[in-house]
Amino acid sequence: MAAGAIFGHSAPVAIQLFLCTVGPGDEPHLSGLLARLDEAERDRASRFMFERDRLTYAAAHALLRHALDQVAGVQRPWRFAADAYGKPSLDPSLDGMCFNLSHTDGLVAVAVSRRGDIGVDAESIARAPDESTFTNLVLAPEELAELEGCADRPNRLLRIWVAKEAIAKAIGLGLSLPVKQIVLRGEMPRLIALPEAHGPTGAWSLHSERYGLHWLALATRHGEATPALRIAMTVEQLLAA
Ligand SMILES: CC(C)(COP(=O)(O)OP(=O)(O)OC[C@H]1O[C@@H](n2cnc3c(N)ncnc32)[C@H](O)[C@@H]1OP(=O)(O)O)[C@@H](O)C(=O)NCCC(=O)NCCS
Repeated sequence: MAAGAIFGHSAPVAIQLFLCTVGPGDEPHLSGLLARLDEAERDRASRFMFERDRLTYAAAHALLRHALDQVAGVQRPWRFAADAYGKPSLDPSLDGMCFNLSHTDGLVAVAVSRRGDIGVDAESIARAPDESTFTNLVLAPEELAELEGCADRPNRLLRIWVAKEAIAKAIGLGLSLPVKQIVLRGEMPRLIALPEAHGPTGAWSLHSERYGLHWLALATRHGEATPALRIAMTVEQLLAA
């Protein structure tokens, strides 16, 4: 599908995923991206110490605005509010539109749903997972047992981490949620358990995939997490859209 194609407002599509690759060479586009943001976002962007992080942040928030325009079918000066845990939402909300975004080295992702809360997370496969953090804080005993002797352990750990973060972000508590209590099983992670307040597990849907040099996950308890539509673009295409 061509970058910038308009879709979604005629069909009751559930989750739409927007991806934008960002990296070295995109620095000249920073001012164009910042021009898409509001004052509060530009202020936040200005506080990043490294230009690389500023660029990724600006691309994520420009992509968010683009995604909302596309899903709503109308361009708006979108405004956002954040709850006590920092989860942003539309202010005022529009037609039950929910979104979540993730930015990491090389990729930004925005998921939009009209059905309810959704979480998205992305992580570069180049990131080396810290074993002791995973053993002590992230993995449940059954997950540790499953990974015993696993040949591709760092990769599996990252995939699990990204899936757990997507669930924690859908719930909205982020890392305030004890991620050890989110229990996954299998190479294609399936949700086996999570704190009672956020269950039952059967209500949840989890999508996990390798996207180029990244792991990507989406989670929702409002329908199917696998994106019904997705659009991928470069920063240049985003600015031309
Ligand atoms: C949300 C959180 C898991 C993000 O993890 P991350 O992998 O480092 O970052 P990602 O790029 O994937 O996601 C960041 C985005 O998630 C969204 N986000 C922030 N808090 C969120 C939350 N509680 N739930 C869902 N999404 C959240 C934001 O859009 C944020 O991007 P932005 O700051 O540019 O707007 C982590 O920051 C967290 O746990 N936050 C909660 C902190 C908290 O409990 N605060 C209490 C008040 S002090």
